[in-house]
Amino acid sequence: MILPIYALGQPVLKKVGEPITADYKGLSELIENMWETMYNANGIGLAAPQIGRGIRLFLVDTVQMMDEGKEEEGIKMAFINAEKVQEGGNPWYYEEGCLSIPDVHGDVERPAQIKLKFLDADFKEHVKVFSGVNARVIQHEYDHIDGKLFTDYLKPLKRRRIKRKLESIKKGTIETKYKMKFAR
Ligand code: NI
Repeated sequence: MILPIYALGQPVLKKVGEPITADYKGLSELIENMWETMYNANGIGLAAPQIGRGIRLFLVDTVQMMDEGKEEEGIKMAFINAEKVQEGGNPWYYEEGCLSIPDVHGDVERPAQIKLKFLDADFKEHVKVFSGVNARVIQHEYDHIDGKLFTDYLKPLKRRRIKRKLESIKKGTIETKYKMKFAR
């Protein structure tokens, strides 16, 4: 089932997500619905707050964006109760976007690697280091479960330039290619 994606301005996007337990009601169905919602919107990541749940769950699929023959391998994974262990490596800029902030893109600087402790969809624990585009998408989604958005990092000039656009997303006066839930 495709769920509406919560738009910028929705309070849940600013909340720190709560950890969940394996008996969280309807979890496997929720994860299934989130994959469907993400692919329907052509996303490469989706976090639970973006569908209105303030919990520490996000999905990442970078397999679809890796060129064949590229040395970097994509990942397709659900991350539950993720905790950042460490971030490091040379910071780099990458253009980010977000399904909750349609048609807005901006260069964000983040460290090259992230070490994460998390549970997979079967509640098996992993501690893994991610780098490159995988790290980048994970860092963006991890921010969602900490109540942060990529627009928080944009430089003042860029923020001024997109201000009106952000206001119209908050007001819901935009056209979108997928179903959204606006704050007003
Ligand atoms: Ni996002």
